[in-house]
Amino acid sequence: MSLIKTTMNIPDQYNIKKTIEQKTYLVDGQLKSWSGETANIYSTISSTESYQPTLLGSIPQLGKEQANDALDAACNAFNKGKGLWPTMKVVDRIACMNKFVVQMKTKREEIVKLLMWEIGKTLPDSEKEFDRTIDYIYDTIEDYKQMDRDSAKFEKNSGVNAHIRRGPLGVVLCLGPYNYPLNETFCLLIPALIMGNTAIFKPAKFGVLLISPLLEAFQNSFPKGVVNIIYGRGRALATPIMKSGKIDVLALIGHSTSAKALQTQHPKVNRLRLVLGLEAKNPAIVLSDANLDVTIDECITGSLAFNGQRCTALKVLYVHEDIVEEFNKRFSAKVDELKFGNPWESGVKLTPLPEPDKPAYIQNLIDDAKKYGAHILNAKGGETTDNYIFPAVLYPVNKEMKVFHEEQFGPVVPIISFKDIEEPLDDIADSNYGQQVSLFGKDVATLAPLIDSLVNLVCRVNLNSSCQRGPDVYPFTGRKDSAVSTLSVHDALRSFSIRTFVASKDNPSNNAILKELLEKKTSNFISTDYIL
Ligand code: G3H
Repeated sequence: MSLIKTTMNIPDQYNIKKTIEQKTYLVDGQLKSWSGETANIYSTISSTESYQPTLLGSIPQLGKEQANDALDAACNAFNKGKGLWPTMKVVDRIACMNKFVVQMKTKREEIVKLLMWEIGKTLPDSEKEFDRTIDYIYDTIEDYKQMDRDSAKFEKNSGVNAHIRRGPLGVVLCLGPYNYPLNETFCLLIPALIMGNTAIFKPAKFGVLLISPLLEAFQNSFPKGVVNIIYGRGRALATPIMKSGKIDVLALIGHSTSAKALQTQHPKVNRLRLVLGLEAKNPAIVLSDANLDVTIDECITGSLAFNGQRCTALKVLYVHEDIVEEFNKRFSAKVDELKFGNPWESGVKLTPLPEPDKPAYIQNLIDDAKKYGAHILNAKGGETTDNYIFPAVLYPVNKEMKVFHEEQFGPVVPIISFKDIEEPLDDIADSNYGQQVSLFGKDVATLAPLIDSLVNLVCRVNLNSSCQRGPDVYPFTGRKDSAVSTLSVHDALRSFSIRTFVASKDNPSNNAILKELLEKKTSNFISTDYIL
């Protein structure tokens, strides 16, 4: 008998009663009708007792011509720096963003429901993703106001007056991931827009229909061509856009292979700025004096929240050999206690995987690890249903195994025991990734030198806690193949802009011009107005 199953009584409010047939896309301020090829969007969650994927709707499969139209619209809206949006007063761009967020808030219910069906995220986590995104937009507005206030002044150095602000970079191609199709995408798009850039945005492969309820809000909140939303295969759309050489910023949360492929298509290497959040293989290091209650809870959340489909997930656990037996026993038991079910079920922690081929991929990692000597420690580990594979706790893991090297991005937890702390430190240094680490232990004399070296290998050392991106005001970045640029509410505004200024020699004639510019308020850039 199967140890894991979902119940089929879907609460009425979460049932799919009508599919969403997305027949338009947003280019140049118009919701353009599409009557060409479309692609069906399925959920791996079944609506019936006998398993079958649920049809959620369809999206346009746009091609090169539509991609180029979107690019032209974004370029025209930037208009070589003369466009309405990049030259607009900061206060007016903020007003557009406020108009958008007010409308977005009214779509919470629809978007939360689609998050559950499209990517299998639990109800509380789907609600959190929505609310966190709204907070992010408001925090971005506040931060931008402060940035503007701080630059609402002149400086004088060596006889030169200067008015220094941050200006937009140009046209942004924005591509988000399926695990946070709303939050992470908007953490790129919103700061890019508010700084005066124009954008082409292609929603993620899963989590695409949840953008539909927002299309009109995008259309009526921003001037035409500022946001262009296109649907279709990433490669078919992004390739002509990148090859045009007209993109100024590639903003992508996803895999480094996609980022590399896209950036190499751009013919003008130094024109292209990169804002990338990429994959990671964040390790936990569990020292022999770690508090096991706290450590196990944090490692469970760290490795298996949203089935391990987080770039910040703990993807390998290094446990000191003195405590590994005890750790493995208690950790495996806790994994088996996690409830699997559909996203709206109460207390559910593990949910269907949105990628139909993911269970087979995870099974392949398990088989490969077993071949090189690993065992599955937990009773339910590796048990498979139509849309899931229960997390397998694998031990002992070694470097022969694929699961040691690959970012599994799914429910499997590799454990390695160590005797000498240099073993995990060397592995982290040799890894292609460098996002975060979780360090569990108590003795300050041991922790101190470890912290001092780990901060130079990754970008966040989490003491006795799992890895995570939030709170969003903190810097989110990584070394090596894990990221380019830094994101946080404040840093994202910097990543999508550049310092640019007006300078003039300090003499009566120049000063009279500056004074008149300020008094007559004819320039939107030169302004010492204080935004309340
Ligand atoms: O997929 C990567 C996300 O940025 C992780 O964010 O740590 O808040 O789940 P999170």
